[in-house]
Amino acid sequence: MAQLDELKRSCLGCNRCGLCETRTQVVFGVGPETTPVMFIGEGPGEQEDLRGEPFVGPAGRLLDEMLSIIDLGRHNCYIANIVKCRPPHNRDPLQTEQDACIGWLRQQVKLIRPRIIICLGRIAAMKLIREDYRITRDHGQWEEKGGIQFTAIYHPSALLRDVSKRPETFSDLLSIREKVRELCPEIYQ
Ligand code: URA
Repeated sequence: MAQLDELKRSCLGCNRCGLCETRTQVVFGVGPETTPVMFIGEGPGEQEDLRGEPFVGPAGRLLDEMLSIIDLGRHNCYIANIVKCRPPHNRDPLQTEQDACIGWLRQQVKLIRPRIIICLGRIAAMKLIREDYRITRDHGQWEEKGGIQFTAIYHPSALLRDVSKRPETFSDLLSIREKVRELCPEIYQ
């Protein structure tokens, strides 16, 4: 069995934090076994919990549109979350839940070997880029860590709530497209 499938199989039985008691399904992530581009959200919502797939609700439909702006699709990038189980009532995942879960994501990153990671929203940015990340101030900036280029953009749910953030996100997406063209030319071939 491929290593990522094996990892998924262990993750599906995870009980490292209390979210395992309220989840319907673990939402491990979707995408190719290796790919140069990963998108990381914060945690599954109601639809994702029911279907076992990330970003399949309203925010997911907007994410698909955002991917198409940068000529990407679910077939050529990997999508996952900081926590794999739905926090009740869609509250922010607690720091303890994030810490319990992050090992799964770290193993996914090791196997998938992305060159670019795009954090969707502040929770992912604060966990993966910097604890003091401020999404309103820092979105769209690039930072290299361990050979991977990181950036963050507003979470699609934030863009659904506040359309005034969309123009800034559009320019962030163009910068992501440029970075993908530069670092991952094969993805557009
Ligand atoms: N919001 C997230 O952060 N992740 C999902 O998978 C769905 C909504």
